[in-house]
Amino acid sequence: MMSEFTLIFDPEMHLAFQEPSNILTMKDIGFENVGISPVAVTEPFQLFSPEAIKIMRSEIAKPEVTANHEFASNIAQAQLRGYVRKYAPFTFAAWTHPATLAIVSKLAGIDLIPWSDYEIAHINLSVKTEEQVKSELKVAHSRTSSIHSDEGIDVSSSKAEKPIVGWHRDAYAFVCVLMLSDCTGMVGGETALRTADGGVLCVRGPTEGCAIILQGRKIDHAALRAMGSRERITAVTSFRPRSPFVKDDTVLQTVRPVSDVKELYSDFAEYRLEMMEQRLRREREAMRARREAGEPFDIQSHKKFLRESLGFLEHTDRELVPEDEFQTGYTEPIDGPDVDATVEPTARLVQQ
Ligand SMILES: [Fe+2]
Repeated sequence: MMSEFTLIFDPEMHLAFQEPSNILTMKDIGFENVGISPVAVTEPFQLFSPEAIKIMRSEIAKPEVTANHEFASNIAQAQLRGYVRKYAPFTFAAWTHPATLAIVSKLAGIDLIPWSDYEIAHINLSVKTEEQVKSELKVAHSRTSSIHSDEGIDVSSSKAEKPIVGWHRDAYAFVCVLMLSDCTGMVGGETALRTADGGVLCVRGPTEGCAIILQGRKIDHAALRAMGSRERITAVTSFRPRSPFVKDDTVLQTVRPVSDVKELYSDFAEYRLEMMEQRLRREREAMRARREAGEPFDIQSHKKFLRESLGFLEHTDRELVPEDEFQTGYTEPIDGPDVDATVEPTARLVQQ
């Protein structure tokens, strides 16, 4: 048993950050000036210590978490969502600590905060029997069709020749995918990205305690199937810009069906109002300052602000789809180019 003392997140003890060996930029994949930062994706990097991973795992093993926070959909067998605020104080502290946010922000090339408490450490669970693992490895190169993704999108394709589907863009600006399992013997699990010219790049998957950061809102991406291990648990934390003045183009379509929407909407509506508050305050203060400086009222500038504000509020309104107008547990699969699932597991940002 771990003592209460060790359950308190301490960055000195629990962060084990090592710089990624490479960071791929948006420009590298042909999307210069697209998105909120120049960064597209990092190579896997060590983020948390083994002890931190152990504690995070102990928090998701609580019976209350499975009982109250497990979600499944047509494309995801088992996910744990929204449990952190209530049941996972260590995990919550780990992802909200300034030292962690400084690392994530530095790698992402923009100051980020978790999208909301609800999206801290979304868990994707994949647990297989020994028999399943053996048969998987046997057919590892025969292009079977069950797909595993790190971001809540597990897709089983009906076409045996299609080794991967699940091409999508994320709901949120940036995502950090942390591996909570021992990946010894695991094959696959890379993230595939679509480049501007239609090509595909693969980034190898993280190993235990390691993570990747991806600007998933702007890049079409998919995950290659992971084979050869009994258990694969990833924790996906989504981020948004800290600044209320940076564009927030969150789209809840893919997360709405696997969420307690009252919690999700509450988080979303609150931070969107907070952003609006700060934008209104800045506009009012600038307007007053101009007047005090003897400058005339800038009609065009203020009308532009008002139009942007209307668009912002309409966006919030559009995303708050009433519960009886969407289907819980069902997400429309998105099609995309085929990717060769037999790619070498060591592939590192190599054009295929
Ligand atoms: Fe994703």
